[in-house]
Amino acid sequence: MRFSALITAVTHASLCFAFPPSYFERRTTLGTFSIDQMIDVNGAHAFQPPQSGDLRGPCPGLNAMSNHGYIPRNGIVLLADAITQSNKVFGLGIDASTAAGAMAVFGADLLAPGIPFSIGGRPTGLSGTHNQFESDTSPTRGDFYQFNGNNYDVQVRYFKELYDLQPQDPSANYNQAVLARHIKTRFQQSIAENPRFFHGPVQMAFSIITHLLVFGLMANHSAAQPDGFLQGDVLKSFYGIATASDGTLSYTHGHERIPDNWYRRPVSDEYGSVRAVPDIAALLLVAPEILAMGGNSNGTNTYTPLNVSSFTGGVYSAESLLVGNNAACFLFQALTILFPDVLNGVLGVVQGVVQGVVQGVIASLSSATASMLAGLTCPQLTSIDKSVLEQYPGYK
Ligand code: HEM
Repeated sequence: MRFSALITAVTHASLCFAFPPSYFERRTTLGTFSIDQMIDVNGAHAFQPPQSGDLRGPCPGLNAMSNHGYIPRNGIVLLADAITQSNKVFGLGIDASTAAGAMAVFGADLLAPGIPFSIGGRPTGLSGTHNQFESDTSPTRGDFYQFNGNNYDVQVRYFKELYDLQPQDPSANYNQAVLARHIKTRFQQSIAENPRFFHGPVQMAFSIITHLLVFGLMANHSAAQPDGFLQGDVLKSFYGIATASDGTLSYTHGHERIPDNWYRRPVSDEYGSVRAVPDIAALLLVAPEILAMGGNSNGTNTYTPLNVSSFTGGVYSAESLLVGNNAACFLFQALTILFPDVLNGVLGVVQGVVQGVVQGVIASLSSATASMLAGLTCPQLTSIDKSVLEQYPGYK
């Protein structure tokens, strides 16, 4: 079965599995707040942390969906289910969700029907996808070359740094402006603490996007605040963080939880490229240094930016990336160009069924990024000189 047909088939199956038809029929309000944005956390969708043998990984969204039975509680999910359920439960745009899902094949079983992948756990699964999908400078996860390779659990120190950016009262709102301040700190920490820090184009894209997803997908919504607000308690719940009586924060692996009375984004306002492009530009106004792709070349604090012009055959420069939507253009183009290459590099020469699956996944990512680029006027980038990345130990 072709990948697109597979997605369609499993989409239908998973819609029936997770949401009764009435769930969709009741969704009539477009562009404003509707009570139907509330996500059910009772009955079949009650919170249940992972039991022995259940897998959880670096993504708080997938972990939370697993803990609430929106995807299988054992943490092994079909690719198409991860895509459709991210869209239904959190309002992740289908373009972004498909792109994310395509990346998950690095940790997937390409020979099994439906392309199951584990949302965490080793040796396969999302936790083991460093530099293909999992990247350095995540909002709360450690870099791969720190913490003995534990790049999947929350590092409480990083969470606390984010948490402390707002007052601990109901006025707290961890919006995109707050996340932009957080990524600045995280970037400097990677330079200062990770000797093999690598911040290539794909890694930069994931670092920016995962920061934006915190508010973009975890924010609560109400009639008074239809554009979303993200208070400390909601943030902590989605991250599996608790506060002790003395105020100390602690994390329990795999305890990410959708809060009671949580309302997702409006159906008419999914978080896809249309929303992300202006958010990327706004984040980069606050944190332009993130655009300086490169890495530590010889231990901590040896950050060496790459020559963007050489890398892109003169199409972009470090300066032009900051103009208009060029940064978003570059990120989506780089994903389109680099993804097939990385995939083939990881999988080696593949044949038969797997080859067909890989081609299908590449096609689905290309079509997702093409739709992301469709609304933008971009400089034409058709190739990238990857040899300039060889200077970074973290690239290898
Ligand atoms: C097809 C669906 C998805 C896939 C394959 C996926 C995969 C991943 C992976 C591999 C990471 C680790 C990235 C890194 O550390 O560099 C990650 C992080 C993240 N994901 Fe997802 N994800 C998906 C859907 C979602 C959804 C629905 C949410 C909703 C909240 C979400 C929110 C996040 C956030 C906020 C992070 C950053 C975690 C942190 O470091 O604090 N993702 N995701």
